[in-house]
Amino acid sequence: MILTAEDLSWKVRGTRIVEDVSLEVREGETLGLIGPNGSGKSTLLKLLAGILTPSSGTVMLQDQPMMRMNRREVGQTLAFVEQQSDTFERLTVRDAVELGRTAWLSALQPWSAADDRIVAEVLRQVDMAGMEKRSWHTLSGGEKQRVHIARALAQQPKILLLDEPTNHLDIQHQLSILGLIKALPITSVIALHDLNQAMTCDRIGVMSRGSLLAVGAPAEILTPDLIRDVFGVTARFIEDTDGSRLIRFQSIQ
Ligand SMILES: Nc1ncnc2c1ncn2[C@@H]1O[C@H](COP(=O)(O)OP(=O)(O)OP(=O)(O)O)[C@@H](O)[C@H]1O
Ligand SMILES: [Mg+2]
Repeated sequence: MILTAEDLSWKVRGTRIVEDVSLEVREGETLGLIGPNGSGKSTLLKLLAGILTPSSGTVMLQDQPMMRMNRREVGQTLAFVEQQSDTFERLTVRDAVELGRTAWLSALQPWSAADDRIVAEVLRQVDMAGMEKRSWHTLSGGEKQRVHIARALAQQPKILLLDEPTNHLDIQHQLSILGLIKALPITSVIALHDLNQAMTCDRIGVMSRGSLLAVGAPAEILTPDLIRDVFGVTARFIEDTDGSRLIRFQSIQ
């Protein structure tokens, strides 16, 4: 198993934010994580990424407890794009993406032409080629987001965790980044608010009040009943001319 959460809980000052979440992420799948604001998606992703330490439960990375692995081993396996992070303040775009190679470098394995090629390729994939020299603080919100994704891709992880990776992106870049992630031969877990986009994932996990309410194929999970219960809106499914289904939402009066 590539990534498993076993009875994960996370508490802060006595309040349970994530409660008994068990999840087996399948190798190669794109798993969408949906749920209302405050339902625990980001907290769960941080637990899976090893940024937060669980109050109880275990994260298993390739069948090893993540707690027992060092940062370098984890960094060679898993990359995380956080929901909000402004960590590259004094760096250029290129410097920020180069940080993605850190887990692969050592005294015996210094920066090489192969690393240059990887950085150039991921910048091209997120449509940021030609902006390498720009300072981080001069970038737009969507450009920053794409640099974060490039940094994670430069890490060449087996598992990519993304927290609302498309929230600042224009529609063209939303589709190209999601298409890119789905086409990569790696395992991805993506928190998303757009349920129509979530529907294109291999499976969907639904967070509600800190618990993982359901996991399964989009067509089984995303029903009008579940959408009403979890999000408090009515949903209607519409079939497009190519047979694909779209969801339309209305607030409950
Ligand atoms: N360090 C903390 N201290 C107190 N409360 C916290 C802390 N971290 C998270 N929370 C609370 O835990 C809940 C879950 O937060 P989380 O960020 O995981 O939600 P989310 O599902 O990612 O929401 P969103 O869709 O808004 O991104 C929220 O109510 C949040 O206020
Ligand atoms: Mg969040």
